[in-house]
Amino acid sequence: MCGIIGYTGKNNAKKIIVDGLYALEYRGYDSAGVCLLNEDGFTVKKSSGRVEVLDKICQALEDNFTCGIGHTRWATHGAPTDVNAHPHTSNEVSLVHNGIIDNYLELKAELEKEGFQFKSETDTECIVHLIQKEYDKEKNQLKAIKNACNQLRGSFALGIIFDGFPNEIWAVRRDNPLIIAKTDDGAFIASDIPALTPYTDSVIRIADGEIAKITCDGISLYDKDLNNKSYSFEKIESNGVKLDKNGYDSFMLKEIYEQPEVLSRVIGINSEKLNKLEKPDCISVIACGSATHAGLVGQYIIEKLAKIPVVVTYASEYRYNLPVVPENTLVVAVSQSGETADTLAALRLSKKAGYKTLGIINVVGSAIARECDSVLYTNAGPEIAVATTKGYTSQLALFYALAYHFANKTEKLSYICENIPEILKNIFKQRDKIKQMAKTICASEDIYFIGRGIDNHVSLECSLKLKEISYIHSEAYPAGELKHGTLSLIEQGVPVIALATDRLYYDKMLGNIKEVASRGAKVILICKDDFLNPQSCADEVFVIPEIDSDFSPFATACVCQLLSYETALLRGSDVDHPRNLAKSVTVE
Ligand code: M6R
Repeated sequence: MCGIIGYTGKNNAKKIIVDGLYALEYRGYDSAGVCLLNEDGFTVKKSSGRVEVLDKICQALEDNFTCGIGHTRWATHGAPTDVNAHPHTSNEVSLVHNGIIDNYLELKAELEKEGFQFKSETDTECIVHLIQKEYDKEKNQLKAIKNACNQLRGSFALGIIFDGFPNEIWAVRRDNPLIIAKTDDGAFIASDIPALTPYTDSVIRIADGEIAKITCDGISLYDKDLNNKSYSFEKIESNGVKLDKNGYDSFMLKEIYEQPEVLSRVIGINSEKLNKLEKPDCISVIACGSATHAGLVGQYIIEKLAKIPVVVTYASEYRYNLPVVPENTLVVAVSQSGETADTLAALRLSKKAGYKTLGIINVVGSAIARECDSVLYTNAGPEIAVATTKGYTSQLALFYALAYHFANKTEKLSYICENIPEILKNIFKQRDKIKQMAKTICASEDIYFIGRGIDNHVSLECSLKLKEISYIHSEAYPAGELKHGTLSLIEQGVPVIALATDRLYYDKMLGNIKEVASRGAKVILICKDDFLNPQSCADEVFVIPEIDSDFSPFATACVCQLLSYETALLRGSDVDHPRNLAKSVTVE
């Protein structure tokens, strides 16, 4: 989602800001812009599309700016056009914004009445005029920012510069991440660590409501009453931020291939923390997207093995409607990025309601990780591709760890670190087979996944993976549910991907496969090696080498990640940056 970078200091601000925007690209965006400042005032350049386009525009500018702010915008209010791109500027103020202002229409109407002219359709533009209005009154940057923020409803992280002050940047946030840093040569603001790693390994995290002023000479931090505050630097985890494809064609492919290694270490790293967890009466999972899907497999395996009831709720729903659960419920917040706005809001609500909280998080020190009572880190390393792969399977591994821990059978967990990596490597060897399957489905516009039991739970993730990067409409159904409505959509040539890895359901799955095949469906069967004569009922078959059915989601997810990847390639999609999507979803 949107990214912020700002720099003031002795070096070439233009270069540092454009480099920072490249580093923030992975978050997902659709336009970018910079505002550079010197004694002559603001120079603003904005462009829809990729940072590369903006970079070319900026090359025509001088290299002598020593202050500026930059932004990658993921459109919410207003299309991804040059005009709607940030920074937005009023007379003496220019700013970049991450977040959403809920009351922007009211503010805009008032500001227009007072003579402020709006150029864009964004919610952000009301902030810059509001600060200008307060600055006109106060003639003081700090008070102007505070007064303006007091009038805003919603979430924001802001980087602000004032004409006439080419050596300072102001930063303020509410419910949206923002960090600042200082080196010998200058000072920085950023929404995210990767923009700063070339320059420093320690940052200050601004708290909600605090205002920071950064200059080449130092940092001043103010609390909400504008009193000076002390601050401390936090070391950045050095393993968290390397943006390197390591010879692979894309980050997604690299991350798929990293799974054996990630899974071989994730349980061991967390075993001490797992041992300390006490068995709750109930588990309530809050998450979004694929993290919710990991929670659903978690629900299946925890209920099966540990006999603890598990409720999985989309965080975006939880935050308005808490499920009814017993007092001794453990709330598990699952998030790769640790920044997802809905998950963070749901976590805060659950804490307010008095529940114990546990995070399953990848990014160390992220907002959700910091607010959970305890955290199991997936330690998957940086995940850059928007479509999660190793993020999802490492979350799965920790759900299995919870299940086996609460069932007092931790010895079985060695299956994840010893057997699963080998099974995945074996799947990778069959990439040609998966490419062939991709050819079978790539021209389709609708695809259905079916499965029963554990396969039903993992099929939701398989379907999401396919649709988010290939743009093929895809849905997942419990196989027995199809005939209650969706079967009417099955006609000649529609692909149905059937997952069958649990012997308990083979006969029933065969029946469901026959139902769709007799209506013309093209059946692709992903099954275990003990499924009887799979070729006789499917157009394409992928056999997963010997695997314990309870652990099959690691393998089926992996096959479907590669299938989605190959299909997206055949359809010419930008695999790492699917349209309209962001890696860190920091708005509601
Ligand atoms: O960072 P998070 O795990 O909190 O992200 C949650 C979802 O936005 C994420 O899993 C999303 O669904 C993925 N792009 C799917 O691949």
